[in-house]
Amino acid sequence: MSVWSQEVPTEGAVQLPPDPRAMDALGRNHSLETALADLVDNSIDAGATDILVRFVQRGTRLVGLYVVDNGRGIKPDHIDAAMTVGGNRHYTGEDLGHFGLGLKAASFSQAASLTVLSRAPGHAAVGRRWKLASGKRDYTCDIVAGTFAAAELDRNWQLPTSGSGTIVRWDQVHGLPSSDDPEQVDEFLSRTISHLQGHLGLTFHRILTERDIRIVIDVEDIQLGVGVRHPVAPTDPFAYPDTLPGWPKDLRVRTSGTDLLMRCHIWPRRSNSPEYRLPGGAEARQGLYFYRRGRLLHAGGWEGIHASDPRLQLARVCIDIDGDTTGLFVMNPEKSRVSAGPRFAQAVATARAHDGTTITDYLQAAEAAWINANRRTTARRKAVLPPGKGFHPKVSREVRNELPLLPEEPLNIQWKRFTTDAFLEFDRGTRTLWLNQAYRRALLGGRRGGANDAPVLKALLFLLAGNVFEGAHFGARDKDNIDLWQEVLTTAAKAERSTFEARS
Ligand SMILES: Nc1ncnc2c1ncn2[C@@H]1O[C@H](COP(=O)(O)OP(=O)(O)O)[C@@H](O)[C@H]1O
Ligand SMILES: [Mg+2]
Repeated sequence: MSVWSQEVPTEGAVQLPPDPRAMDALGRNHSLETALADLVDNSIDAGATDILVRFVQRGTRLVGLYVVDNGRGIKPDHIDAAMTVGGNRHYTGEDLGHFGLGLKAASFSQAASLTVLSRAPGHAAVGRRWKLASGKRDYTCDIVAGTFAAAELDRNWQLPTSGSGTIVRWDQVHGLPSSDDPEQVDEFLSRTISHLQGHLGLTFHRILTERDIRIVIDVEDIQLGVGVRHPVAPTDPFAYPDTLPGWPKDLRVRTSGTDLLMRCHIWPRRSNSPEYRLPGGAEARQGLYFYRRGRLLHAGGWEGIHASDPRLQLARVCIDIDGDTTGLFVMNPEKSRVSAGPRFAQAVATARAHDGTTITDYLQAAEAAWINANRRTTARRKAVLPPGKGFHPKVSREVRNELPLLPEEPLNIQWKRFTTDAFLEFDRGTRTLWLNQAYRRALLGGRRGGANDAPVLKALLFLLAGNVFEGAHFGARDKDNIDLWQEVLTTAAKAERSTFEARS
């Protein structure tokens, strides 16, 4: 007998507003780059032609971040809706916005205080500030003094003025270092700015190329003023120099809604261009590139079509998901990932190009291109021992990509304590090139070491001395080289150490 009842009887309703701490959980999958990309989306939706990302530095501390645009601004009667989580809005077919979450989720993933100052044409400047305080029990948002909002908007941001615009300001940013060491702050800033240039340049490459929009990044030192501007240049992952005959091909995927086109590209060969070597590495960037309204959502991965494989790294597929493809994909709220549902891989399996090409044909062609392109370069190179312990994973990968490997035990390069002041020890038994620990701090410039530290030093030694470990014993020539390297490098290491000790 079934006890299942279709109807659930109810006796009234209660209001269950979310606890404000739920705000804290918003946007947990954001990084600084994806969070800023979400703010840039809003500026683009607002019709901005110029967008500025500014880090604010006071002394050696990074105290905040601004995103400033010259878009159409927010009208006074809309600012509260804009600050509301899920605040509803009507989206047009062009808009990058989607969930009514971006501004809040992106900001609170990085900062504890969000201020929005904005002016729409013909309206007064308005501002709101929202602080996430621990123990805060309500959703109150502060109303910023209109005079302050106006003064901030009127500052000389060096953007072409349009009479309207928006400033999003973050304070108490968690990700920014609070070190008192100016060198560390500088290093953080230059690394972060270059990551951001990479990420924004990739995410918005079509928009930057096709529309009249510029994004720049700078740093304002409260005492010293504004530094140089770093422009964001578009990075097109499909900008290879010459095409393989017959490629790219469009595979048509049948769906219940609009058919989907997969434009299957094959890079002719590896390249050192930023377009090929995308942030995260080319190998991880093989696979599918999903775009929505000209914005790249997701760069690489096969979504169940195939496993990632170093030999498929020339394969990149461009997919626009503007149409009605319900059920095939979901986009995460951070707009940094598209996940394909199980029906996607099935649909792709039956996809065909005009000439009958299938996805399997494409993957085979991409692999053949890889093998072909590599045969030309690696065949001429002498095989080496595989890199073993002590190498930075990126260095190992590079060596494996660049050189044929001998089918032998790998070579390790590691530190240990020596009883002498020699710099090197060639240990045939363990296939290890030992480095004298006594020089480590100096060679690392005082930074803390790890198992895979000193990648440049180890890569150089690998290239210079790796081959003496090949074969059964050291020949006379090897022994002579080992003596030479020992003499010269021990002297160099001592010099490095005395310079380091004189400085600290
Ligand atoms: N830079 C901006 N310029 C103009 N309006 C903005 C800007 N940033 C946010 N808004 C307004 O705030 C609303 C909420 O933004 P957001 O939380 O990112 O959600 P969504 O973009 O999905 O609508 C937007 O719909 C827009 O009306
Ligand atoms: Mg948005």
